[in-house]
Amino acid sequence: MYAFRPSGDELTCDDVALAAIAASVGTPTYVYSAATLRERIAALHAGFGDYPHALHYALKANSNLAVVRVVRAAGGFVDANSGAEIEVALRAGCVPADIVFTGVGKTPAEIDRAVALGVKTINAESAGELERIAAAARRHGTVAPVALRVNPDIASGSHPHISTGLVTHKFGVPITKARAIVREAAAHAELRFVGLHVHIGSQMVGLDPLRRAATAVIGLAQELHDDGISVEHLDLGGGLGIAYDDESVPPLDAYAAALVDIVRPSGLTVVVEPGRAVAGPAGALLASVVDVKPRGDGTWFVVLDAGMSELLRPALYGAYHRIEAVTARDGAPVPCDIVGPICESSDVFGVGRSLPAPTVGLVVAVLDAGAYGSAMSSNYNRHALPAEVMVDGGAWRVVRRRQTVEEQLMCEE
Ligand code: LLP
Repeated sequence: MYAFRPSGDELTCDDVALAAIAASVGTPTYVYSAATLRERIAALHAGFGDYPHALHYALKANSNLAVVRVVRAAGGFVDANSGAEIEVALRAGCVPADIVFTGVGKTPAEIDRAVALGVKTINAESAGELERIAAAARRHGTVAPVALRVNPDIASGSHPHISTGLVTHKFGVPITKARAIVREAAAHAELRFVGLHVHIGSQMVGLDPLRRAATAVIGLAQELHDDGISVEHLDLGGGLGIAYDDESVPPLDAYAAALVDIVRPSGLTVVVEPGRAVAGPAGALLASVVDVKPRGDGTWFVVLDAGMSELLRPALYGAYHRIEAVTARDGAPVPCDIVGPICESSDVFGVGRSLPAPTVGLVVAVLDAGAYGSAMSSNYNRHALPAEVMVDGGAWRVVRRRQTVEEQLMCEE
């Protein structure tokens, strides 16, 4: 069930009034539904059924410790995209075997740490990186489990900024070169080839590109098998979209079942790295109206205290997020652009919207902001990183308090 729903005059998160949270914590504040995180992990598990699989939630979507703990307790593992995300995973209670480590530009220190910890798999991005992983494993007297990320030259059909599967994109190695690279690297005693990895993009609303990518890596796995190299799993990345507006998006269990259909003949374990599909619908950003001014064409600017510094997606991708008042209001809907306070014309959350009787102090919820919301927030214009709240079982608590100016300046001279 969608967490952010009306109850009487109030918009709630799992029946907790968002207005009450805003009144207590202030705005801008992210609110997350623990129940939704659990439900979405459970739906994925259900879709995979008894086919061997592992869910590695992509931490980049939202790595608040409380979010990661809920995901982990629900049976999700993690995909870390940096050394710091590995540390967050460990602090959230993951063990190294729960972690796959991905990333297009792993530093020597990050590789060293991942090898020393013994993470489940390092998804390598190049032949050179495989060499560096082998060298680190040699130094540590260990064998590093690796997968090679391949680039299958398949269009994701989603926004160009979040498409990663064409040869013109920096990710992985061209699939045409992969067989030779794996054969060469597999000669290293310090490397154990456990998988192949592919991730062609994000916010995909159709399953076809995902099916094609899976088919491509299965073909490669077969070729490697013929070469005497047998991988154990296929990591098919993340990428399933969510309905920000009225898009029709396959449900989680249908997505999982579609992947199983393709992979089953290979018998290989499926690994997936969903980020948005787990956390996106589980979060909303609460913001307060700080100004309402006429545009001169009969419509209005409604200015919020949150902008691109708190939620970058609209400015960066032209992304759509529904925006709703958290308390029912009398009065006719006012046609408006809903904008942030940042000194950039791209700092717009919604064009051609309407809000009922917007006045200063009104709190609104920007919906489906649980993924790539807080995670991409910044101190631009010296905005504080927002507070974050977890709603769980009818109660709520602050899981990250709002940053202070002192904390922003702590690292400066
Ligand atoms: N695995 C890898 C290797 C990835 O690069 C990503 C996302 C994921 C998994 C998770 O993908 P998801 O299931 O969330 O689609 N900031 C953008 C999204 C960037 C996605 C980057 N990589 C946005 O706000 O739309």
